[in-house]
Amino acid sequence: MDAGLNTSGVKQEIFLKDYTSPAFMAETVDLLFDLDEDTAIVTSRVTYKRMDSGQSNLVLNGGEFMKLLSVNLDGHLLGEDAYVVTEETLTVKSVPDVFTLTIQTELYPADNTRLEGLYKSGGNFCTQCEAEGFRHITYFPDRPDVMAVYTVRIEADKARYPILLSNGNPGKTGDLPEGRHFAEWYDPYPKPSYLFAVVAGNLGVLSDTYKTKSGKRVDLNIYAAEADLEKCHHAMAALKASMKWDEDVFGLEYDLDVYNILAVGDFNMGAMENKGLNVFNTKYVLASPETATDADFDHVEGVIGHEYFHNWTGNRVTCRDWFQLSLKEGLTVFRDQEFSSDLGSRALKRIDDVRLLRAAQFPEDAGPLAHSVRPDHYVEINNFYTATVYNKGAEVIRMMHRLIGAQAFRKGMELYFNRHDGQAVTCDDFAAAMQDSSGKNLDQFKLWYSQAGTPTLTVTRERDGGDILLTVHQSCPPTPGQPEKEPNHLPFLMGWIGPNGEPLEPACSNGVWQEDGCLLEISNSTETFRFKDVPTGSVPSLLRTFTAPVHLKHDLSKEEKLFLMSHDRDPFARWDITQDLLRVEILRLVDSYKDGKAQETVDKDVLDAFGTVLADESADPAFIAELILLPSENDLGQYMDVIKPEEIYLARTQFISQVADAHRDIVLERYKKCREMLENQAQYSLDKNSKGLRRLSNTLLGFIKQTSSGEDVCCEHYNNATNMTDQFAALSVIASSEFQCRNEILANFYHQWKGEDLVIDKWFMAQAMSRRDDALENIVNLIDHPDFSLTNPNRMRSLVMVFAGQNQRHFHANDGRGYNFLAEIIVKVDKVNPQVAARLVAPLGRWKKLDPHRQKLMKTSLDAILNAKHISDDVGELVAKSLAT
Ligand code: TRP
Ligand code: ZN
Repeated sequence: MDAGLNTSGVKQEIFLKDYTSPAFMAETVDLLFDLDEDTAIVTSRVTYKRMDSGQSNLVLNGGEFMKLLSVNLDGHLLGEDAYVVTEETLTVKSVPDVFTLTIQTELYPADNTRLEGLYKSGGNFCTQCEAEGFRHITYFPDRPDVMAVYTVRIEADKARYPILLSNGNPGKTGDLPEGRHFAEWYDPYPKPSYLFAVVAGNLGVLSDTYKTKSGKRVDLNIYAAEADLEKCHHAMAALKASMKWDEDVFGLEYDLDVYNILAVGDFNMGAMENKGLNVFNTKYVLASPETATDADFDHVEGVIGHEYFHNWTGNRVTCRDWFQLSLKEGLTVFRDQEFSSDLGSRALKRIDDVRLLRAAQFPEDAGPLAHSVRPDHYVEINNFYTATVYNKGAEVIRMMHRLIGAQAFRKGMELYFNRHDGQAVTCDDFAAAMQDSSGKNLDQFKLWYSQAGTPTLTVTRERDGGDILLTVHQSCPPTPGQPEKEPNHLPFLMGWIGPNGEPLEPACSNGVWQEDGCLLEISNSTETFRFKDVPTGSVPSLLRTFTAPVHLKHDLSKEEKLFLMSHDRDPFARWDITQDLLRVEILRLVDSYKDGKAQETVDKDVLDAFGTVLADESADPAFIAELILLPSENDLGQYMDVIKPEEIYLARTQFISQVADAHRDIVLERYKKCREMLENQAQYSLDKNSKGLRRLSNTLLGFIKQTSSGEDVCCEHYNNATNMTDQFAALSVIASSEFQCRNEILANFYHQWKGEDLVIDKWFMAQAMSRRDDALENIVNLIDHPDFSLTNPNRMRSLVMVFAGQNQRHFHANDGRGYNFLAEIIVKVDKVNPQVAARLVAPLGRWKKLDPHRQKLMKTSLDAILNAKHISDDVGELVAKSLAT
């Protein structure tokens, strides 16, 4: 399983097919952390048991960024001839069958900018061990199928580090000489090393309790900087709601006496599910109406849920190897999506999730970094925490749920835990539990785990007397290493709308009508379904709730789409067909551009339909906001053979302007009404209606911006804002505008929020998204802003990732300045934090979708990264793949 070093020092690829079970098991792990300001001494005492009699040597991972002080076997200090140390391993020669190995290492957490292993954030010690960080703490078989019971003792200065935490339940605490103190922790559940965590710091705490359904009391603590505690209440409520939800929906209870959460400002990802001690990016814990948007509040709830749900899906049952990452991540994303749907609105949540899948996963599947949900080879596992493993992985679980039904799914989950509690297992084990609980054969279905690429479904209709024959054809384009694809097994939910707008349920040859539509099962490359007696003028509503992660092509006319837009009662389908209609219309405009000038205008019927939606007062305002939010520039680009960034930007803006022109009064009227309703409320509220009103009025700002009263309304919106949702919506529109008030408002925002890191991130973000002609220059200059930082991942992403990922117009600047800028930053960040640097590579790799001129510039920038001195394996792997043709 180990990534050995070849002679060039570049990590080698490792393969799923080479998996072998561990030669030695660790049974108990005792760790002593002796923490000083800049260094830490770790003493690890581990009992090992030989599993494979053919292996006489014990090989442990570890080495980089730490110093080996001593190795002791069963009480005897080993001489240097008894072991071999390489850059990445420690091999202890000829060990007995059962033994205790004690190893001392010295670490330098204050110098650790990689934020992996033991590091410091905001003056506090914390750890990040997933995926392979534990090996930077001590020498250990750092692989998820080695599960052990951990006991931890932490010693540190009491005044500077009053809070000492680790996994499991608290044990003894006490004072030590010289102003130091200690705390002990014991975690009774065997766990892999990636779930280990330790924290030492000066932190405030928000505490609460939860009583589980069987009556056990659990202490809940959220640790954060004292000043941030007032922003932790939403996270605490979300935690309690998660605990309740998992009991109600899956019968799963929490299993320790305490649940601790730490919020840190420097974190590579969103959060980490360490057993009993989650570590969170502050972005997913802290929220107040003044500093967080409604979307931020939702994200906090979702991520709190996600990490909590990992306690069963990930921790109690974990992954055999990292190829199985989606076993825990896909399933846990599915669980957090369901949680958020149940707490909020199912339709809106589904729209958000599908938007994200299309924005983040589809491009991944279509580009050089495409990989399957269960990859079968990698160089650096950190590069596989992707939208494919997480979000497509969740879609795979969702399809299983749909194919076997909610009841069998719940039974399958129970079977999975009965069989595998305390084990490290594979995606096949999960699928087997679902197959056995339902009796449905999932052999073909499992292709979703091994086959990369987004399938395209093409739906056509044919009339046969009173019946309609509906044919679904599927195909999937080649992806790197997979030239040919087999047909997938997938659920396809659909409905019919009759000529008078009424829902129909015509009998179907081999589909089954369910509550939300007719479920067709597709497993061949071409399948035909007969719907009986379908009246003329009926229109099919296809792929309801997006039951499979596919591209959908169909033969619906513009008139039929408009018909569905006003008559489909399924909100998701209504949204999706509206997006389809808008996408096709904007792309028609894009095609008409000659020398930067549109030769076409927006279709009158489309404009009228847009007006009808805007004026619809019967629907949920949040839903109207979704309907009128145009496909993004990136989304539009995905539907072109060759992306034309400037034309897409122009055509999309033209569309907004024409809507604003044609429906000026309705837009302003609707906006005013929303604001009045909000102003009449006594106070800020996170209820569904208030969120909807904010969402709609803030979305309308984008249209109002293009009218003659745009500047007045937007600036007033900004000045009157009493919460971050409104303030940031106005700031984003203004930052991208030519308004007189622009610079003053940007400065105002900055001064109001100086020192609030998560809000200053938004200030960078608003500018990173600006489409103004001078935006790129401004973005490049912001790198030198005193508040910009290469070492803080949130700040980095707010400027650089947002620019490269969401500002298509300027990232693809025709002179290549956007590409150069990104390449230079990648090389710089790589020296500080390779994981974060690697996440910036993907946008440069998608050169195939651009014109030859830009392709060349993009490849030149990729080459420049590859040719820079000492690039990491993380960045190296992705750049090499991006350049491969
Ligand atoms: N397991 C974490 C989650 O999905 C992901 C994660 C947190 C992570 N920090 C990481 C993955 C660092 C790789 C590296 O909840
Ligand atoms: Zn996760």
